[in-house]
Amino acid sequence: KVIVSDFEFPTNAQIWHAQEPRGARVVHVPRTADGYIPLAEFAKAIDERTQLVAVTHVCFRNGAKLDIAGIVRLARAQGAKVLLDCYQSVGSLDIDVKALDVDFAAGGMLKYLLGTAGIGFLYVRDAFVKSLLPTNSGWFAQENIAAMDITANRPSPTARRFEAGTPAVVNSYAAEAGLKFLLEVGTPAVEKRVYSLTRRCMTRLEEIGWPSVTPAQDERRGATVAVPSRDSAQLCAELMKRDIVTSHRDDNARASFHFYNNEDDVEAFIAAMKQLRGKFAP
Ligand SMILES: Cc1ncc(COP(=O)(O)O)c(C=O)c1O
Repeated sequence: KVIVSDFEFPTNAQIWHAQEPRGARVVHVPRTADGYIPLAEFAKAIDERTQLVAVTHVCFRNGAKLDIAGIVRLARAQGAKVLLDCYQSVGSLDIDVKALDVDFAAGGMLKYLLGTAGIGFLYVRDAFVKSLLPTNSGWFAQENIAAMDITANRPSPTARRFEAGTPAVVNSYAAEAGLKFLLEVGTPAVEKRVYSLTRRCMTRLEEIGWPSVTPAQDERRGATVAVPSRDSAQLCAELMKRDIVTSHRDDNARASFHFYNNEDDVEAFIAAMKQLRGKFAP
């Protein structure tokens, strides 16, 4: 039994459904009427048959952040492992996989890590690096990359065993540049700025009468503020005409903040939304 949530990005549900022919049963934890998924919903789904809980940190649709430490406690109590999809949080929040106590964490460089597409990462808890044998492999995953041995699979004893074939070489340069930048600024400072801007943005949206659907509490939110619209695609196009880059998912326009944004950016967004409210608010 594999548990995913209603907040997953398609990939992190599809890869588990792809295991159904091998006997996996995928259970989706539903969102509640207020648009969140409280821990109680996970408690109902995670049981002694659960082998893996694979959940997103922050939802790409509405910016809601799940209680990962709580989910890990529930999973541990049933002997299940936890995989965190931190694609929508890493780089914008100060994350400590060891403090969260997750077994695996996966993400990519495309978003808040300021890199590009085609390259990602996997964190594996130390104990599992040695005990888990990947069924996907390749020459970069072997103990000796230069061996070129086609008669056997001899995985590296280190985390390199989770690699595959030739890595995305060109993309690595963009990834390194983004990471250097973020390490220089520091993720605690980034997170502080992100929370201050998202909080301000949500307050200002309330003031102009177009509230966001993203949870208001800091512990339930990431870097995205999602605003519902009658036509989210057209709203984003109108914002783009005003040099404000947002994106749309479902009926929401998403404004996503990073350390390089400031209060003026929030005000520019609010001024544009005020102009567009009559045409695009629900
Ligand atoms: C939460 C989350 N997971 C995963 C992905 C991307 O997965 P993939 O590597 O399949 O493109 C995204 C991309 O936006 C995402 O938001």
